Amino acid sequence: MSEPNRLASDVPRLETGSDSVQIVWPNGEHSRHLYYWLRENCHCAQCTHPDAWERMLDFLAIPLTIAPASISSDENGVHIEWPPHDANCQGSYYSWTWLDSRRAEGSARLDRKCRARAWATSNLDKASLSVDYSEAMTGDSPLLRLLAYVDDMGIGFVTGMPVEERTVMALAERIAFIEESHFGRYFRVESKPNAENLAYTPRALLPHNDLGSRRHPPGVQFLHCLVNDATGGESVLVDSIACAEELRSNDPAAFELLSTCRVTFSSIADDWHIVNRATVIDVDEDGDILGTRCHPALLGPVDIEPELQMDFYRAFRRFLEIATSREMQFRFRLAAGECQVFDNHRIMHARSAFDPTSGHRLFEGCYVCRDDFVSRLEVLRRRGGDFRAR
Ligand code: OGA
Ligand code: ZN
Repeated sequence: MSEPNRLASDVPRLETGSDSVQIVWPNGEHSRHLYYWLRENCHCAQCTHPDAWERMLDFLAIPLTIAPASISSDENGVHIEWPPHDANCQGSYYSWTWLDSRRAEGSARLDRKCRARAWATSNLDKASLSVDYSEAMTGDSPLLRLLAYVDDMGIGFVTGMPVEERTVMALAERIAFIEESHFGRYFRVESKPNAENLAYTPRALLPHNDLGSRRHPPGVQFLHCLVNDATGGESVLVDSIACAEELRSNDPAAFELLSTCRVTFSSIADDWHIVNRATVIDVDEDGDILGTRCHPALLGPVDIEPELQMDFYRAFRRFLEIATSREMQFRFRLAAGECQVFDNHRIMHARSAFDPTSGHRLFEGCYVCRDDFVSRLEVLRRRGGDFRAR
C-alpha cells in the first residue's frame, strides 16, 4: 500500500538486533518483531498462496535462529532478503500499515481491541434499531445497518416481514448459513401439549441465553412474531455485559465465582441428551466480559463442592436479581411481522407469561453461527476491497 509524500520524520526507523528488529514509530513508540515472525509472515507467492491467502510455507523449514541476509526500509515499508534455507522465498515485503496493525505488544493489541458498549434500557428504542425486511433482503446498506446494530448493541429488529411461516429462515439465510440444533433448522414457539421446552408453554421465561447446555450455544438468534394476540407475552432483552459489569462492581467475589467456576447445564429429553460444564459469565484474557451462559431452567444439578454451593447460589441469585431489575430490562411487545435479532452469547432474552385462552401467540426462530455473522458484516464493510493486506 503506497503512502506518498511522507516527510523523513514521518517514516519509521529500524534498529536491528540479533533475533529481531525494533521499529521506532514517528510518535516515538517502539515495536519489536522477531525475525522468525517476519519470516513466517512472508507474503511472497512462494510462501503464501496468492488466491487462498493461506500460508504454504512450512514452519519446520525455517531455522529458529533465522536472521535477514539484508533488511532495508523506505517510505512504504520494510524489505527483507533471507539467507538460503529449506524454504524458497522471493523476498519479503511488509508495509508500515501492515506492521503497525500487527504490533504484538500487549498495549498495542489492547489499543486495537474493539470493546462492546454495554447498555441499560434508558437510551434504547426499537425504532432506532429497526430495518425494513424488503430493504434488508435486497440492499446491502440496509443489511449492513442491521448487522452493525447487532454487532454494536447486541440487538436489532426487522419490521415489515411477511406474516408467513418460515420467513425467519429466509432472513437468516440472507446473512449466513443456518446453525442447526437439537430443535432442527428452525423452531416454532407456541403453547402446546407435551411441550419439549419451557418456551412452548405459556409460562414466563426468566432472562436466558438459548441452549445453554450445548458446548457451543448458537450464535445469533432470530425470533419472528407471526401472531401475538394473547394477553401478556411481552418480550424482554437484557445486556449480559451490563449485568455482569454491575455484578463485578457491586460484588467482586460473586463475579469471580461466576466467571471461573464451571457448573453443569443439562437438556435431557426422550430424543436428546446434552450435558456440559461451563462458567456462567464468559470473560476473556483481558478481563473483558464477552457474554453469559445463563439458563435458570437448564442449570445443574449444581455439582461443585458442597462447601462452595451456597456461595455459588448467592452469586447466581445476585446476577439474576440484576438481570431482572427494571433498569436492565428492555421490554417491548413484538407485533406480527416483526423480528428480533440478537447475539445469543451477549444478550439474554425473556418473556412475560401469556394467557393462551385469550388469543393465539406464535413465533418462529432460528440461529446463525456468530463467526459467519461477523464474517458477513466484515465483508459488507470491506465492500469488495482487496483483503490481501501486505
Ligand atoms: C425461546 C424464547 C421467547 C418468546 O423460544 O427460546 O425464549 O418470546 N422465546 O416466546
Ligand atoms: Zn429462549
